[in-house]
Amino acid sequence: MSDDPFSQPFDSPDFFDRSFGGSESSGPDSGAPIGGGKASIVVVESDPTMAAILVDACGGPTTTLPDVDALVNSLSSQATIAILGPSCTEPRHLAIAERLVAANPNVRTLLMAQELSTALLRQALRAGVRDVLALPLEPGQLDEAIALVEASIDDAPAPGSSSSSGPLLRRGRVMTVFSTKGGSGKSVVATNIAIALAQESGQRVVVIDADLQFGDVAVMMKLSPRHTVVDAVANIDRLDGAMFESMLIEHPSSGVEVLAAPLEPAFADQISGPEMIKIVELARSVADFVVVDTPAYFNDVVLGCIEMSDDVLLVAGMDIPNIKNVKIGLQTLRLLNTPLEKVRLVLNRSDSKVKLDIGEVERTLKLQAECLIPSDIVVPVAVNRGTPVVQSAPRSGVTRAIEGLAAQIIGESQQAKSA
Ligand SMILES: Nc1ncnc2c1ncn2[C@@H]1O[C@H](COP(=O)(O)OP(=O)(O)OP(=O)(O)O)[C@@H](O)[C@H]1O
Ligand SMILES: [Mg+2]
Repeated sequence: MSDDPFSQPFDSPDFFDRSFGGSESSGPDSGAPIGGGKASIVVVESDPTMAAILVDACGGPTTTLPDVDALVNSLSSQATIAILGPSCTEPRHLAIAERLVAANPNVRTLLMAQELSTALLRQALRAGVRDVLALPLEPGQLDEAIALVEASIDDAPAPGSSSSSGPLLRRGRVMTVFSTKGGSGKSVVATNIAIALAQESGQRVVVIDADLQFGDVAVMMKLSPRHTVVDAVANIDRLDGAMFESMLIEHPSSGVEVLAAPLEPAFADQISGPEMIKIVELARSVADFVVVDTPAYFNDVVLGCIEMSDDVLLVAGMDIPNIKNVKIGLQTLRLLNTPLEKVRLVLNRSDSKVKLDIGEVERTLKLQAECLIPSDIVVPVAVNRGTPVVQSAPRSGVTRAIEGLAAQIIGESQQAKSA
């Protein structure tokens, strides 16, 4: 047996004694499944008052442990749902929880937070936490979250498999397509890079249209979505991989799946940064590549997407206003401490006869262009037909440029996985 405590089943009879006053709140068996359910429920919280509140909210037999170290020492081979209280929100605790979940496919975690910040939500979801609930809880809220997590245990994947209903382990590569200039070609790049990634890698690609007011990914791919980001947000507390997948619409000829933007611009205000982060994390848990299209300005949603992305495809057109705005956008990203290594400059209409040469633009932006997309009539034609250019004009220079970028990203993604 391995020495790694994370990979050891833990039926140890004395773990409650070893732990920090671990106790059972009800029922003769430690962590007995609620209502005959499949999983033991364990509340992990150092503050006894808060622990009691959480035990009460669980509405059934639970075990209480004071911290995640005690949880590590106490795991058994039985399926376990750990309710991590607000004392477990530090990065150190979440790192332990992450290893625990990765090593034990029958363990699920839920996090209770006093303050639900974008950063905490992102860290928690990355640590494999199934859901994060803000305190104080509403009546029945925790019960419902437990029931949903418990339902996912039925279809729990074998270790190493990538079923969407399992913990968030797939870790697809996320790229946000952004520009601080409207009309620069973001949506053209987002839709076409998604199709190129799907065609070249044969892997699963999801596009999320985070241009919440005027998103046109669905139109550019001639799709009539039944669900949009609004549905995902309306169900955010119980949204898991399977429910997320049910909200996607497939682009038949490429297999790319899309979560469309709201049909009404007015819905945009209802969607927050943390909600979008949760949606993108779910997308990353079911897909190999996630492409996020954005509006031409910074907001909480865009910043959240940029922050969690592996790549930011910064799209700039070849004219002075474009370059000026993109420069300001880059300065903003620097101020926000965005690692500039993940910013990849895409120059659109790079052959335009506008007396700007590529070297000049690169010097101004202090970034080397990684993709040069020529100006070509095939693009507006493709947009108007709803057939993306990589499909409607496969031999065009535009397609070659986009396929080149896709190949580069696929190569890097494979390298990162094998590292
Ligand atoms: N390389 C190109 N060659 C010719 N036309 C192009 C090219 N790239 C984009 N276009 C045209 O520019 C228009 C705007 O592109 P797109 O909608 O992708 O920009 P956007 O940045 O997403 O705009 P918005 O900020 O409004 O969302 C498209 O309808 C397309 O016809
Ligand atoms: Mg757009």
